[in-house]
Amino acid sequence: MSMMHIQVLHGPNLNMLGTREPGHYGSQTLVDINQDLILLGDSLNVQVSTFQSNHEGELVDKIQSLKVDGIIINPAAYTHTSIAIRDALLAISTPFVEVHLSNVHQREDFRHKSMLVDVAHGVIAGFGAMSYSLALRGLHQQLSSQQ
Ligand code: DQA
Repeated sequence: MSMMHIQVLHGPNLNMLGTREPGHYGSQTLVDINQDLILLGDSLNVQVSTFQSNHEGELVDKIQSLKVDGIIINPAAYTHTSIAIRDALLAISTPFVEVHLSNVHQREDFRHKSMLVDVAHGVIAGFGAMSYSLALRGLHQQLSSQQ
């Protein structure tokens, strides 16, 4: 059996982590977060790929091109607006976990609405960078038990 492959997708402005509103998003950079996920993947025997874009269409193109077992996505501001990203994820019928660094439900009302959440396998929010590693552990465990 081939190695499980999980794609991590980061939406707009997440390339600025480390300096961007550290009170909400912590001090780790996106490079730090990606490295930690790849290392965690190594320990779980999961291939982890990462991708960030500030452009909705680029995220849609990337999603359409994926041939992976699962997706971890922090759609950032597109969470609250993007039917296109929702439709792309449905089109490839690959399970995905929606991730947020901050607890979006504690914040402005416009962050309470997600275009993806009802079709997500699960959601993790509010644990900072750890939200991603919790998602990787959870998705890995569930995909393993289905094989
Ligand atoms: C975010 C929350 C979104 O509301 C916001 O637009 C982001 C980041 C988070 O990780 O907490 O850019 O997805």
